[in-house]
Amino acid sequence: MTTPTLRLTDGSVTTATVDALVVGTMSGEGGLQLLPGSAEVDAAFDGALSDLLAMLGARGKADEVIKVPTRGAISAPLLIATGLGEVDGQPTSEQVRRAAGAASRALSGTARAVTTLSRIDLAAAAEGTALGSYAFTAYRSRNGDGPLGQMDLSVPSASDAGATADLARAIAVAEAVAAARDLVNTPPNDLYPASFADRAVTMAQAAGLRTEVLDEKALRRDGYGGILGVGGGSSRPPRLVRLHYAPPASRGKPRAKVALVGKGVTFDTGGISIKPAAKMEEMTMDMAGAAAVVVTTVLAARLELPVEVIATVPMAENMPSATAYRPGDVLTMYGGTTVEVLNTDAEGRLILADALVRAAQDAPDYLIDTATLTGAQIVALGNRTSGIMGTPEFRDRVTAISQQVGENGWAMPLPEHLRSDLDSKLADIANVASHRWGGMLTAGVFLSEFVADDIPWAHLDIAGPAYNSGSPWGYTGKGGTGVPVRTLAAVLADIAEHG
Ligand code: BES
Ligand code: MN
Ligand code: ZN
Repeated sequence: MTTPTLRLTDGSVTTATVDALVVGTMSGEGGLQLLPGSAEVDAAFDGALSDLLAMLGARGKADEVIKVPTRGAISAPLLIATGLGEVDGQPTSEQVRRAAGAASRALSGTARAVTTLSRIDLAAAAEGTALGSYAFTAYRSRNGDGPLGQMDLSVPSASDAGATADLARAIAVAEAVAAARDLVNTPPNDLYPASFADRAVTMAQAAGLRTEVLDEKALRRDGYGGILGVGGGSSRPPRLVRLHYAPPASRGKPRAKVALVGKGVTFDTGGISIKPAAKMEEMTMDMAGAAAVVVTTVLAARLELPVEVIATVPMAENMPSATAYRPGDVLTMYGGTTVEVLNTDAEGRLILADALVRAAQDAPDYLIDTATLTGAQIVALGNRTSGIMGTPEFRDRVTAISQQVGENGWAMPLPEHLRSDLDSKLADIANVASHRWGGMLTAGVFLSEFVADDIPWAHLDIAGPAYNSGSPWGYTGKGGTGVPVRTLAAVLADIAEHG
């Protein structure tokens, strides 16, 4: 993980001793416009900065980054103009975050820069800068450019307590997102259930959490048939990790208890119902839900949120082998429900079923699970929009928060009539339907069977948004994105505030 040093500055940005100065642009009615907060930069260019940028082809569009050699107009030798797109009144936080991220990516190899985007939205500028400069270099033996070293964030007063707190929180959030990306980007030969569990426990204990790891023997003893079934084909046995954050007594009585559950399939070959070879390597990301849950629980502790969090994280590798579970097998899940396996590639819902039942035993006030669960999520909503299902009221609350933080999930239904598509000829329920229509919803309906009726529940299907196999955009590079860490963190903060 590499994140630049972020610090506040209230000095002049035009005379700062830095390698580059970042300003925002936007596309308005009359074409390109400078973002408010760039006045003295514009003055240093004799009020002609937007004309100069327009001459270079700038339009102020999102993900547009224009580099201008300044030739002494300001002390920084390079000016970076980063586009926010069309701005309706005030720029949104997400527009600032993405523009900061795009600028940050363009600054790789630069030692030090200063940005004016923080004058619009400090936290968003900080998060976007930190996340945009993220690079996963653990497996490169030759050094590349290296990321941005330091970004100074221009604010009215660098000693302001509110600004200092906003920056500290933004850094904590960005580091959590980067930690999730690291876990997702670690290749499956090094990140398997036992090593993932070790890493989760190390991170959690460093933050003072209580931890518990069930190995294959303990899973057998306690009857976790879903996790054992899915993990049975691998030489690297499954785990169930439990992390418990209880707020310090100084924060008063916790507002609520929240259970988090995340799918941790460290590699998904599909098992005996094996996947096609093309792009199978991307199934290293099938533990993104687990990664998000682990880092968010640690983040809650770091921020000392007044809410109790218990993470229940099933980890398994879905492999075909002589010991693998088969289509046709019936598994007895934790709690006793039986499941007929019709497709071993619908494995996520099986390990989640065990974990959801275990999580409910802690009597949480809220239950949130997240998983790279279905290709159907991507068919329905694409690569950047998670599907959010669950009990309607809590689902809508989580969806609204996901919109606010810029992760932009969308509420989806769990139609009751889909339940009969999962009727099994011999067990309580089958793990897939016999058709592929509405596959994201069917998976959600399957999970709902294992969620106690009286717990407000949200299920986030992040199959597309958790991993970027396309080009970098905004603050999102290739590979693990860290979705939905910012949604989960904001939901915990919201519950801490409102119950
Ligand atoms: N891990 C996959 C879902 C997935 C697909 C995640 C693409 C990210 C990108 C999941 O385990 C899976 O294989 N789901 C099946 C379910 C089907 C067999 C009902 C799918 O979506 O095809
Ligand atoms: Mn699968
Ligand atoms: Zn999977």
